Amino acid sequence: MKSKDLAARRIEQLSEQIEKHNHHYYVLDKPLISDQEYDQLFRELDSLEKKYPELRTANSPTQRVGAPPLDKFKKHSHALPMLSLANAYSSEEIEDFDLRVKKFLNMPVDQTIEYWAELKFDGLSMSLTYENGNLTVAATRGDGTVGENVTPNIKTIRSVPLRLNGEYPPLIEVRGEILISHADFRKLNDERASADEDLFANPRNAAAGSVRQLDSSITANRPLTGFWYSLGAADDVWRRSLKTQQNILEQLRRWGFKVSSTGELCKGVAQVEKFYNEIQAKRESLPFDIDGIVVKVNSVRLQDELGFVARAPRSMIAYKYPARQETSVVKDILVQVGRTGALTPVAILEPVNVGGVVVSRVTLHNAQEIERKDVRIGDTVVVQRAGDVIPEIVKVVQEKRKSSSVAYAFPKKCPSCGARAVIEDDEAVTRCVNTDCQAQIIETIAHFASKDAMNIDGLGFRIVENFVNRGLLKDSADLYRLQKTDLEHLEGFGEKSASNIVAAIAESKKRALSKIIFALGIRHVGETISKILANKFGDLNALANASETELLEIHEIGPEVAKSVLNWFAKEKNRSMIKKLEQAGVKPESGPKPLSQKLKGLTFVVTGTLSKLSRTQAHELIELNGGSVGNSVTKKTSFLVVGEDAGSKLDKAKSLGVAILTEEEFLKKV
Ligand code: IVH
Repeated sequence: MKSKDLAARRIEQLSEQIEKHNHHYYVLDKPLISDQEYDQLFRELDSLEKKYPELRTANSPTQRVGAPPLDKFKKHSHALPMLSLANAYSSEEIEDFDLRVKKFLNMPVDQTIEYWAELKFDGLSMSLTYENGNLTVAATRGDGTVGENVTPNIKTIRSVPLRLNGEYPPLIEVRGEILISHADFRKLNDERASADEDLFANPRNAAAGSVRQLDSSITANRPLTGFWYSLGAADDVWRRSLKTQQNILEQLRRWGFKVSSTGELCKGVAQVEKFYNEIQAKRESLPFDIDGIVVKVNSVRLQDELGFVARAPRSMIAYKYPARQETSVVKDILVQVGRTGALTPVAILEPVNVGGVVVSRVTLHNAQEIERKDVRIGDTVVVQRAGDVIPEIVKVVQEKRKSSSVAYAFPKKCPSCGARAVIEDDEAVTRCVNTDCQAQIIETIAHFASKDAMNIDGLGFRIVENFVNRGLLKDSADLYRLQKTDLEHLEGFGEKSASNIVAAIAESKKRALSKIIFALGIRHVGETISKILANKFGDLNALANASETELLEIHEIGPEVAKSVLNWFAKEKNRSMIKKLEQAGVKPESGPKPLSQKLKGLTFVVTGTLSKLSRTQAHELIELNGGSVGNSVTKKTSFLVVGEDAGSKLDKAKSLGVAILTEEEFLKKV
């Protein structure tokens, strides 16, 4: 058999295996293999597809990493409109619903209807179309008739099957809800906070924002998942074979969808009421947000008979839980200065208990948000804990506003240093333009010393603030110049505590490179990106001198992050701080110790199939000898290492005059 045919067979095998493991990991929560073994399969597939690009299909597991960015989303007309649900808020309203159903079906009122009760997920509704078992379109609800085609984004969600398992009709549309779990939401916001990016108000907003990214590689890095609960357009024969809502869920599960295991067959409304109460008691401890339950007539035949009224099915109703909202009074609005100068307004409230959590401070995000909600000092406001996580002000209670009240004026100057505060082009944040701003310096050094960064024991925010205010520190590197004698006479310090702090600072010199990169506080460079940069560049100087192309060659790094890194290292002040760190003996330990520095400063690209080494082994050898690995051949590539069946990279290297090595020659070099 020709090597290409072999490759095609292997690609199919690998794709199937990887998707099977995605299903076990992301849908069933029961992984069958280790992450490492998974990575190995993935890399093998990726390199085969790179070698034979013509064999790569649109639904290959490798395509889950995102597609090229779009200018805007295409519209998608739903084959069947995506309707909404009528709402009920009390047991009486559920009884009324039950009576309406019976009346419409001409049934005696004392007959019992079978309902299926399930969770009402608080996410973003989504329609998935599968043609011949392949996911071809994913679309948002939009206005119910026309939504947005967000297919590349939804393909990045590992729990969404790209192909259906088992038997399926030629065309089927599946509907459900995209969401982010509480745990993932917290992680995402922590990561954003550490990279000085705006926080999401709640998991729903985070999910919606992530789905509506024009650059699907951003979506790929967001922890989206989903639950699937109904069919849209479906082949008639199939629809009829699924006799109940329960059957639909079972079929969705067989096809490979993530289906909630919480749901109950209820004989009559009393059982619905019981389910509603049981779920309400558990609501706080569920791993994701729900805003109620959905009650569905279980029989599909009866559902069809009941039909629709006012864009909602007569056979279903959302039985909602009351929102966790309370009112409180805004005592003050403070403006905090972050380490990159972002001014964040915070409302200080009369403490109030919202669903079991006492809330006394609520972020107002930015100036526009205050203006939009017209929040003023002295206002009575409705506070809500959306997404169980971050409290927010929903609205002002206008009737309680005093006639003397005046609109809040967002400061035009930095509240810390008095410098100009400006709104940059495409941003919502107001920033203090003064890089010597004391508040920014304090925040930056406190971040540098913090637990996940340099982890300097005992050096908390207040102490940093104290040192900066006394002129002991102008930047983070100054920490390493502090002497016991500088501190022991300060109020609150003695000989012992002064020497403890100095020792803790000295001890931090040997932190890993990734920690130091993170500690620098570069915008958009959180813990994950820091690790990636540390692995790629190996030392601070190499990172400081990285070009935009080198940064963009790293898969996880997009233009925004690259620009932020370049800007940071372009500043003289930061460069001299790095020098000071080096002089102070801050010597990061990065990953595995290099074998040699033989390849220092050289960039290698490997292409084709090598006979003695796998692609990964070759990459490791390059890095262990101090060289760096590139994905594509550019003018900056020092050598192209070629194996058998080398393709377009070889042509490119020849045209650019890049030196070419055989595997033998390469091995001799290392
Ligand atoms: S069935 C005709 N089941 O709630 C719409 N919807 O308020 C039939 N939702 O647009 C939808 N969980 O996005 C159904 N278990 C569930 C649901 C659910 C959340 C959403 C859905 C719908 C909205 C209506």
